[in-house]
Amino acid sequence: MSELSLRAKKLDAADELAPLRSRFVLDNASDHAADAAGIYLDGNSLGALQANVPGRIEDVVRRQWGELRIRSWDESGWWTAPERIGDRIAPLVGAAPGQIVVGDSTSVNVFKALVAAVRMVDPTRDEILVDATTFPTDGYIAESAARLTGRTLRPVTPAEVPAALGERTAAVLLNHVDYRSGRLHDLPSLTAAIHASGALAVWDLCHSVGALPVGLDEHGVDLAVGCTYKYLNGGPGAPAFLYVRRDLQDRFDSPLPGWNSHAEPFGMSQSYDPAPGALRGRVGTPDILSMLALEAALEIWDEVSVAAVRAKSLALTDFFLECVAAYTEPGRVTSVTPELHEERGSQIALRCPDAGDVMKQLIDRGVVGDFRNPDVLRFGFSPLYVSFAETERAARVLAEVLG
Ligand SMILES: Cc1ncc(COP(=O)(O)O)c(C=O)c1O
Repeated sequence: MSELSLRAKKLDAADELAPLRSRFVLDNASDHAADAAGIYLDGNSLGALQANVPGRIEDVVRRQWGELRIRSWDESGWWTAPERIGDRIAPLVGAAPGQIVVGDSTSVNVFKALVAAVRMVDPTRDEILVDATTFPTDGYIAESAARLTGRTLRPVTPAEVPAALGERTAAVLLNHVDYRSGRLHDLPSLTAAIHASGALAVWDLCHSVGALPVGLDEHGVDLAVGCTYKYLNGGPGAPAFLYVRRDLQDRFDSPLPGWNSHAEPFGMSQSYDPAPGALRGRVGTPDILSMLALEAALEIWDEVSVAAVRAKSLALTDFFLECVAAYTEPGRVTSVTPELHEERGSQIALRCPDAGDVMKQLIDRGVVGDFRNPDVLRFGFSPLYVSFAETERAARVLAEVLG
């Protein structure tokens, strides 16, 4: 046994989160196999299933829907699920209750948040800044939001934001963690700079929620969105969330004012009167099956803190980088993920010219990460279920494939 695999064993033995791994449906049979198999490093794309979720969905379908039918909107808490589950997510992103609703996709919530942000600031502010390296959907939606609100869209890298801010800036849309490189951007200082210019900050938390502390209230973030199918393990297409800071809620003028956000949704009025609070972020009838799968998936957070998850995430990514350096010929891959902890999310992105082919071979050998055009291998480390032994084995198989 190599020094690194021995160390992995010790790290797993000392890992306080290790028992939580048994809650997930994983390829446990391969845990102690000599060869790597069933190592899932794609939780930054789709989190793994937890064992309590299928039973919950069965109950929602058979009893709540099958037996109670329409009564479940009230008796099973369906109607209030968006805000109830929003309050469950709130502590994970450092938000007090009453500021988050769950529903729609991240893309749709980016639209709501950005248009609403622009509508809150002085109309002379005619420019929206967007992260030039953003996950594409945010850029597409920002372009449409700018067109609809009569603003100009200016793509800038997060590093260029402070210099680009000015009297013309209405709002800035940024990603907390870059989906490709895994770089963690400095939310506190960027938010402060955006505020100093008089603009509003909209953050996309898709790659940070459930992986690291966010501190929305502490840092005075204005609006934020995030997805629940990555590190929150909510399931494929699980609904996203929208955060609107409490003191902005009265001014939140939704560009999608559906009846679920009406002050009296069952008043069936022809005129729109927005509900108070975060409820204004709702649109139409929520997707109850996905939403309640997410609610079941979130129960694990009763037993674990974001701080503990962050500590293990950094330990896993540090260890992976160390194993890759030890096993791989120098220069064969280059990490594009920052070394510094304060600049790192919960994934490692390695660049190599034949990344597409390398990832195919890795997946064939049971190490599941993903490939991002044109030359990036992504490995996501979900601390709730990824072990140090898997991390070491994944690096070993990677080195063999890179050969
Ligand atoms: C940073 C980021 N923003 C937005 C999205 C898109 O989310 P959705 O397809 O759920 O709208 C993703 C999806 O992976 C993402 O990584």
